[in-house]
Amino acid sequence: MKISIMGAGYVGLTTAACLAEIGHEVLCADNDETKLRGLEAGRLPFFEPGLEGIVARARRNGRLRFVEPAAAIASEGVLFICVGTPPRDNGEADLSAIEAVARAVARTASGYRLIVEKSTVPVQTAKRLRKHLSAYSRNGLQYDVVSNPEFLREGSAVEDFFHPDRIVVGAESPRARELMTAVYRPLLDQTFACPVHTDAACPEQAPPRLIVTDTNSAELIKHASNSFLAMKISFINMVADLCEAAGADIDKVVEGLGSDRRIGPSFLRPGIGFGGFCFPKDLQAFVRIAENFGCDFALLKEVENINARRVEQFVAKVQKELWTLRGKKLAVWGLAFKPETDDVRFAPALAIIRRLQAEGAQVHAYDPQAREKAAQELSGVRFHDDPYAAADEAEAILLLTEWSEFRYLDWNRIAAAMARPLLFDGRNMLEREVITAHGLHYFAIGKEPAAPLLARQSLGAALAEAAS
Ligand code: UGA
Repeated sequence: MKISIMGAGYVGLTTAACLAEIGHEVLCADNDETKLRGLEAGRLPFFEPGLEGIVARARRNGRLRFVEPAAAIASEGVLFICVGTPPRDNGEADLSAIEAVARAVARTASGYRLIVEKSTVPVQTAKRLRKHLSAYSRNGLQYDVVSNPEFLREGSAVEDFFHPDRIVVGAESPRARELMTAVYRPLLDQTFACPVHTDAACPEQAPPRLIVTDTNSAELIKHASNSFLAMKISFINMVADLCEAAGADIDKVVEGLGSDRRIGPSFLRPGIGFGGFCFPKDLQAFVRIAENFGCDFALLKEVENINARRVEQFVAKVQKELWTLRGKKLAVWGLAFKPETDDVRFAPALAIIRRLQAEGAQVHAYDPQAREKAAQELSGVRFHDDPYAAADEAEAILLLTEWSEFRYLDWNRIAAAMARPLLFDGRNMLEREVITAHGLHYFAIGKEPAAPLLARQSLGAALAEAAS
């Protein structure tokens, strides 16, 4: 099928490349000419595992082309709107980019167009779009507006595209439902050569459920999903605080809690709070949407409050051990809001760094992917090429993003090079026994702190003895 994608951001580009991979002919457009030129030259504007190869293949076989917005609108294909809906000062989503696309389509397109709203939008946006299209239509345009919310996670977007749990389509005419089913047919039947699991058969994957609804319900599903996941995280973070205060172990509590099939084990990882461009903004937007319909979603306001306190609490924990932070060198490992991405938008790591700097600490940071983007946001931070250099002579290590490489480090070398061997694991990713066996104090979330199994002096002596 012919498909046009408006917006080559995170959602748009991933959707465009993956739809081309399953056989469609895709035009991907963006207002940002620099971005378009970069994409034409094979440069992706962000890091996403596996995406570069899919974009390159789709361009080679001619199924993906990057074009000006006018060309995408003029093409008669299904039009996906994937433009940004950033938060306004009051927390509401700014829909001006969506409105601009709708106006341009209404003014220039003719015949029948299927317009698919993929950007995250408030409930009743499709309804507004329909009114808008009618109001501006010049050439007898006929159209359907469909809501098809996106559930991709950064860092595993390609995997999520090919193996989703569900595909939600809010469509209100048989024609629109049929077209949308045809777009996703290869995914629904799982009949495509999977680019994620190339060397082996895909792991047992049930085909996704197709959930067909009206447009209002589809729009609500998106905000309700993200808010519910954020709620799970804030809930477990509060339980973690209680564990820490009362001498329980959050891992054991999560095991017991998550084993109840009604609750499930996912999204119960405690830490320094959720970040990224989706949860914080969608949560705020959902509270505002509810308010606009006369519902006080106080529960979600508390989810936000709990999350906002995580940064302060984590810094206080570091301060409690180091007393004052002025002039002290601190190593920060991880800047991205989660691993496998270079995205630092609303990253808790950046908020923590700013707080540490306000207390006078000298921050030495390392992140395998997000350094460049973090450097644009922060000042006064020394960036390093590896975690060892960042930890050299540091008073403490603050692990703020759970990159898997942090599991496989030479802990003896790190402990020996630090001014004080303290490790604050903001993501509970490391094994307490491993860390303490190498002479470091280990502070996790929702657990009692653990002292080193060997004092550093005796560790040094033991190492010297082993070496001799
Ligand atoms: C989220 C949703 O998971 C996607 O389904 C959705 O499509 C996307 O938002 C969106 O609306 O575009 P994403 O923001 O990429 O995806 O990342 P998540 O994996 O959901 O993580 C969000 C934040 O929660 C991260 O900061 C992560 O560290 C944190 N988190 C996640 C926890 O603190 N604990 C957990 O147990 C899980």
